[in-house]
Amino acid sequence: MTEGDVATVLPAARLRGELRMPGDKSISHRALLFATLAAGESRISGAGDGADVRSTAGIMRALGARVEPDGVGEGAAERGGAPGRGRNIDYRVVSAGADILSAPDGTLDCGNSGTSLRLVAGMLAGLPLTAVLDGDASLRRRPVARIIEPLRRMGAELHARNDDSLPPLTVVGHTPLRAVDVTTSVPSAQVKSAILLAGLRAEGRTTVRERIATRDHTERMLRARGVPVERDADPDGGVAWTVEGGTAVQAIDQRVPGDVSAAAFWLVAGSIHPDAELRLRDVGINPTRRAVIDLLRAMGADIQELPVEGASGTDRERGDDDAGEPMADLLVRSADLRAIDIEPADVAAAIDEIPVLCLAATRARGMTTIRGAGELRHKESDRIAGIAAGLTAMGARIDVDGDDLRIEGGATLRGASTDSLEDHRLAMTFAVAGLMATDRMIIGRPDSAAVSYPGFFSDLEGVRA
Ligand code: S3P
Repeated sequence: MTEGDVATVLPAARLRGELRMPGDKSISHRALLFATLAAGESRISGAGDGADVRSTAGIMRALGARVEPDGVGEGAAERGGAPGRGRNIDYRVVSAGADILSAPDGTLDCGNSGTSLRLVAGMLAGLPLTAVLDGDASLRRRPVARIIEPLRRMGAELHARNDDSLPPLTVVGHTPLRAVDVTTSVPSAQVKSAILLAGLRAEGRTTVRERIATRDHTERMLRARGVPVERDADPDGGVAWTVEGGTAVQAIDQRVPGDVSAAAFWLVAGSIHPDAELRLRDVGINPTRRAVIDLLRAMGADIQELPVEGASGTDRERGDDDAGEPMADLLVRSADLRAIDIEPADVAAAIDEIPVLCLAATRARGMTTIRGAGELRHKESDRIAGIAAGLTAMGARIDVDGDDLRIEGGATLRGASTDSLEDHRLAMTFAVAGLMATDRMIIGRPDSAAVSYPGFFSDLEGVRA
């Protein structure tokens, strides 16, 4: 129950249900952005309708695209009938293409969305216009030097507050940009995507190298929209992606799979609750996003992947209109979990799921270690501090040593008063923890959940059998 600025979650005796996740947030942002770069009409079905994706939709409108609701998740509802309305939206985007976009009248408001900030900066770097990107108090603490440096090397002018480290961020675009060969300074799909987007407006071939692979939605969507993208394995184990500047992005129709990062809350809840069986419909299982499923399985979780009609369930086949994004229904049942070691490459692959995996670790047998989690300090909140504070208040034992965590398993979690720090992933982790706590759980500032998962708290009540 959410009331005012707190939510109260009571323990649940059993968890049962079938849920449809909001459309994948990462893919929804990119679909809106690429539809704006393409001349013509694109339809996007089942996009997430959280506040973050709405921020991107608003920015695309401010740049001159027509972005209209094309129904409230009907595309998604037709394919199932499981509850989904109100968290997904179908969009129709009509744009005259990248060359015709106009300078916005005011500041571009990214709200709470770091993805909007970084990807839009990359998109604007090669356009002949000036724009200022800004957002809420949390966004103003998110680092931007990581995109300023490579985009400047490509010829764009960028300025930011606090010695070019924090938003607001001003982008003075330049056409054409210089093609570059760069290695990202941190494992970040946002940084990689910003450079690839700028690369579309550069003369020649732009290569982005990452030492640790991150999600590849941008690369898949570029290919689906007619832009060739080369992938090479780097000898040191990293990956290099190359785009040729000047290739037009095409308008297409695409459907967005359910968000595996939202599904993660139910995968953990279903695994650690003693009497649970939950089915999650049409969830994206892109190999660069599915680490949470594989890590939970390595811990002993009982998660089945079931095919979705008309969609690709593997990386090799192509579904009808999925823009190269495989999906599956996920079925999770209670299991006895054991501790594992989570390495830096796993952290990059499950970056948004680490907080809820910490919750899983508190209930697993043995000591879970997580190494190299420093990037979590630069998310919507300092997630290392936030998760440690909340789970410790519930009786868990967590030892934080710099960017590493050690989590002792087998804890009895008691209800506690926690604070989301206005971070959606912390709000949902603590709420799910409340389902198996010994008594009532209080979550401060729970509304942040709607940033990525509108309807989360009604699902939380709905799964109580
Ligand atoms: C995202 C990439 C990740 C992730 C964020 C979404 C994306 O950030 O944490 O929620 O859509 O590219 P970084 O790539 O900066 O780690």
